[in-house]
Amino acid sequence: MRDGLGSAGPGTPGDQPADDHSGPAELRIRDGRTDREYVLPIDAGAIHATDLDKITAPVAGADRAEGLVSYDPGFANTACCRSSITFIDGDQGILRYRGYPIEQVAGRISFLDVAWLLIHGELPTEAESASFAAAVEAVPELPAPITAIVDSFPSDAHPMSVLLSAWSALSAYRAEAKHVDDEAVRMAEVPRFLAWIAALIAVVFRHRTGRPQAPAAISGSYSARLLGSLFPERGVPDASLVRALDLLLVLQADHEQNCSTNAVRSVGSSRVDPYSAFAGGIAALYGPLHGGANEAVVRMLHEVGTVANVPALIERVKRGDGRLMGFGHRVYKSYDPRAAIIRATAEEVFRVTGRNSLLDVALAIETVALQDSYFVDRKLYPNVDFYSGLIYEAMGLPIDTYTTIFAVARMAGWIAQWLEMIADHEQRIARPKQLYVGPGRRDLPS
Ligand code: ACO
Repeated sequence: MRDGLGSAGPGTPGDQPADDHSGPAELRIRDGRTDREYVLPIDAGAIHATDLDKITAPVAGADRAEGLVSYDPGFANTACCRSSITFIDGDQGILRYRGYPIEQVAGRISFLDVAWLLIHGELPTEAESASFAAAVEAVPELPAPITAIVDSFPSDAHPMSVLLSAWSALSAYRAEAKHVDDEAVRMAEVPRFLAWIAALIAVVFRHRTGRPQAPAAISGSYSARLLGSLFPERGVPDASLVRALDLLLVLQADHEQNCSTNAVRSVGSSRVDPYSAFAGGIAALYGPLHGGANEAVVRMLHEVGTVANVPALIERVKRGDGRLMGFGHRVYKSYDPRAAIIRATAEEVFRVTGRNSLLDVALAIETVALQDSYFVDRKLYPNVDFYSGLIYEAMGLPIDTYTTIFAVARMAGWIAQWLEMIADHEQRIARPKQLYVGPGRRDLPS
């Protein structure tokens, strides 16, 4: 038997495999269990997982047939959306925002303009750039109780735990934002997300470091105001440090369907308000395998201490005793292009702050690892988090606040991805399947 299953939809523009190879864009499958043959359409390099459900076979011992599912823990090979925001080619180390290579964007386009690009799809005009920056700057201060919530935590509580709690509390102050199906409401909220995440990490930072909760009156770019609000006692922030911070924000602004973005899309798919959806993103980012790796890297570098201790660290990792933090990536199987840019920026920052000697330890780890077959065979290279923490440390940020800066950066991507998800009529509430492996029906003891 031969079943045709649906028809191919429009392809996605980009560098995905084209559907016009020599043969038709279809996958032919023979199910050995039933000896049936199926033809599945291939659309933009993908089959539709729901088509598999039509490939059925009788269930052993039951009077019914069951459709095939794909099993993919960790979503290693499952596309959950069509997106036109960020393109990654992990084998070649390519990252593009809305088509623009990251190497061209970094250092030339400001963080707020990058946020606009990610959200709207095009670079802002001069007028759009100015009015967007003005709209972000004009956002009212955080509701006062939010600062009180932050101050109610122990001062040694992890800043990401505090940020997560205080950010999710914002949902209670923005009832208007719950109308997520109204595009005007969604877009009106955008400047507030960007202003409040920066304001909130400053409140968390002041609480963490015992500084008084007085917003700093620093003017200038988004990054200048952020840096100024973290260190008001330093006065006007150094221009090189502002440039470096802005660059770090740009480099971490979006990375297609990473763990935290997937969390935002998944939580947001229930049509909850965006503050709650972004709280899901902050929680995911906190984890040491994701954004929390920047903190873990610097802790690891401090533990190693000197270049002489690097071989012992590498041997320990190879024995399976811990991971080399800041190395490896689900998508990049070559050098993460962001890590290369950050490594060069670190040298620039150290000219202002003084050289962080741990850079030599990091460079030695990279050199040893990239010559070692354990890392070479598994294609493990430095990722975005490997060098970023050294810059934050040089700027004077406490180690446990690094990931809060990442949250500011990634807010731009979360907003763009959330907006794209809400407007995408193919999207439904996120609800994966499972393979049930528990006990069959049984009765409670009488
Ligand atoms: N150190 C040592 N071994 C590693 C590392 C590492 N950093 N990363 C992966 N491996 C090994 C695994 O042990 C595994 O080896 P095996 O095949 O012998 O079992 C193999 O490489 C594949 O690893 P997976 O865990 O299957 O890779 P996955 O794609 O699931 O994980 C991740 C990606 C989480 C980034 C992983 O590389 C890791 O834990 N890195 C360290 C943490 C880190 O730096 N995270 C930040 C990532 S960037 C970001 O999220 C912003």
